[in-house]
Amino acid sequence: MKRVKVSRKAHFNAAHRLYRKDWSDAQNEAQFGKCSNPHYHGHNYELIVSVEGEIDPETGYVMDMKVLKDYIKSEVEDAFDHKNLNIEVPEFKNLIPSAENMVVVIHDKLKKILSPGQTMEVVLYETPRNFVTYTEQA
Ligand code: NI
Repeated sequence: MKRVKVSRKAHFNAAHRLYRKDWSDAQNEAQFGKCSNPHYHGHNYELIVSVEGEIDPETGYVMDMKVLKDYIKSEVEDAFDHKNLNIEVPEFKNLIPSAENMVVVIHDKLKKILSPGQTMEVVLYETPRNFVTYTEQA
């Protein structure tokens, strides 16, 4: 069977601060720069979620994109959009909300939708030029 990758784009806005509680403000600013601003700051995040798998001969689909769209909305957009990630999103209570950590958290929330034999790749743009990618290890 042919393996095909299907992708869905999504978007959310969120605020965060990159810092370690056990570091001084000066240390945090030296490491994280503007992203350690104690008053937080926002990003317009762009998300691309891809599922790779075999085409179902009955439907011609790898995955019903409506189902993927609704799942991204409930698991990611509703949970993250217009939120302060550090304060309002439980996953980041003790985890720095860097794009790298975010993409793994998003992947782990979404991977429950996969059928056996499917793999998921998540790409998260923090800015138009900075983006990170996480692919499930087989
Ligand atoms: Ni930032």
